[in-house]
Amino acid sequence: MQGRAWFVQDSCAVRGDTRDMRNFSYATNPARVVFGSGTSARVRDEVERLGHARVLLLAGPHLSDAAARVADVLGPLVVARFDGAAMHTPVEVTEQALAVLRAHDVDCVVAIGGGSTTGLAKALALRTGVDQVILPTTYAGSEVTPVLGETADGVKTTQSSPEILPETVIYDVDFTLNLPVPISVASGVNALAHAMEALYSPDANPVIDAMALEAIGGIARALPKVVADPSDVDARGELLQGAWLAGTCLGAVGMGLHHKLCHTLGGSFGLPHAETHTVVLPHAMAYNASAVPDVMRRIAEALGVNDAPSGVYDLIESVHGPLSLRELGMKAEDLDKAVELATAKPYPNPRELTASGIAELLDNAWHGRRPADSPLADLSKLTDQVVASFEAAPNKRVGRLLSDLVRHLHHFAISNDLTEAEWTHAIEFLTRTGQISDDKRQEFILLSDTLGVSSVVDLMTNSRTPGTTPSAVLGPFYVEGPPAAEHGSDLAAGLPGIPLWADVRITGPDGEPVAGAVVDVWQSNEDGFYDVQLPDLDGPVLRARFHTDAKGGLTFWSIVPVAYPIPSDGPVGKMLDAVSRHPYRAPHVHFMISAPGYQRLVTQLFVGGADYLDSDTVFGVKDRLIIDFATQDGPTPDGRVVDGEWRKLDFTFRIAKN
Ligand code: BEZ
Ligand code: FE
Repeated sequence: MQGRAWFVQDSCAVRGDTRDMRNFSYATNPARVVFGSGTSARVRDEVERLGHARVLLLAGPHLSDAAARVADVLGPLVVARFDGAAMHTPVEVTEQALAVLRAHDVDCVVAIGGGSTTGLAKALALRTGVDQVILPTTYAGSEVTPVLGETADGVKTTQSSPEILPETVIYDVDFTLNLPVPISVASGVNALAHAMEALYSPDANPVIDAMALEAIGGIARALPKVVADPSDVDARGELLQGAWLAGTCLGAVGMGLHHKLCHTLGGSFGLPHAETHTVVLPHAMAYNASAVPDVMRRIAEALGVNDAPSGVYDLIESVHGPLSLRELGMKAEDLDKAVELATAKPYPNPRELTASGIAELLDNAWHGRRPADSPLADLSKLTDQVVASFEAAPNKRVGRLLSDLVRHLHHFAISNDLTEAEWTHAIEFLTRTGQISDDKRQEFILLSDTLGVSSVVDLMTNSRTPGTTPSAVLGPFYVEGPPAAEHGSDLAAGLPGIPLWADVRITGPDGEPVAGAVVDVWQSNEDGFYDVQLPDLDGPVLRARFHTDAKGGLTFWSIVPVAYPIPSDGPVGKMLDAVSRHPYRAPHVHFMISAPGYQRLVTQLFVGGADYLDSDTVFGVKDRLIIDFATQDGPTPDGRVVDGEWRKLDFTFRIAKN
């Protein structure tokens, strides 16, 4: 079925918004929006801004005050007026208004009202090309969509065209203050529905997602406040802003089951538009919830509830909105017909449309049953419970770290739909990591290194002072108390390799030499092994401790380090294999520098141009630590006789003060 096919194809687009890239195209609908309180005073400026001077004023029923205010501001620009807009934009009404428009040579329509008045303005614009300035008084959102639904001979048709999109929308919060509470609720939930369905639309994209979530949060916050105090300008403003954003979503992406159902119920059974939306929304969401758990989680977060469909039901109940199709006047015997109509033509929807599924949905909506909390709703309760269990931790930092760890772990499990088998695998992996570790081999550190965590912690802890030499991880091959060495001595003690002359200086942050600094140096041999990895070697070798001279300097001979693999015969090696990662470290020399009054610096210098600089397996390389180990062929600085090429490392470490 087409609905199913869309879901399969695009499921990753919906679920993937936290993980995978998604493909989308996005076009903005060009309209000018003026928002605020008292903004209707700008209506004349806005008409003139469009270059017009002959206005047909359309006003919805019961809006004589607002219409009078707008007429007053427009003054002589109003050349005609039509107050007869009707629900579902009947073509006969449009024809009457069209005659008025033509008789007065109108060049701009100004409409004050809800969806019906806006619909009439759009119908006129479609037929004549006149510009529209709309002043909405409800939360319908149609003023920012290029869509028009019209009825002729009882049949409703919908079309979309750039001509239909109003040029200017003036949202004047003051015009909504008198909107009766029941209409505010139904209209507000109608807006909520646009935002909800935008999030799982096949055309969903990041811009619309952001607007939809903002709209959902705003509408859900504002509705109860508006019900408590209909004249609360701030709450009305938040609701109107949410409605604008939700309408923008409606105008930008295709809608699904909820909108199609409401269309069917409204068109075929004469149910009131906004109220039908109010009743159906929680049930349409519940129907789709299992197909788009990630979207539902985001909606629930935006609403501040554990479960999106039941959360919306509770919201509607709390603001005394209609909860059942029965109370809207739908007859029980019409339900079968509604199922038939609603499943007659396939259309994009996250979950396949089945007659039995839609029948159950409509039955629930007809009775006004609260959707059952999704079993997954308990998840966030569970996370909250675990987090709360750390509240009494005597050490606040411990409590905070554990809480945050639990939140991240739970989120990781939820957002990846982690299976039991996968989690068991992870636990077995950690068990093997522990079992292989002893006082010589620390597989957990290797794990932390290869996951980049050691480098993150190192950066956070040691590289916070600008202008000083960056730090790098210590690694497992440092040995406390290396042998003291004289300046100019050879760390390699005759081992094979390309000779390397190191001329190093230690300064403070302002370039002042640091005399008497303790500088430990260690590195691998020509085969990529540290002395501690070679039990037969008569060590220590390729490691030493120097003290800087009065100028902060020290020199030594060594050999050029080579790339080497980290131990890869354990679980970490298996993990690297499983993701096709190599185990190599880029060639480097380790340094640990300590001096009284200065912060200790643990770092590494990497051989410029060497392999693995871009893919060091422990993510230890930083650009400023990549150094030219320059090739030389002339005489050596201390007169040592070298047969062939040798290299020179010339580097100044800048260390931070305490
Ligand atoms: C090292 O550079 O010695 C090293 C660092 C992290 C893991 C393994 C080795
Ligand atoms: Fe190393």
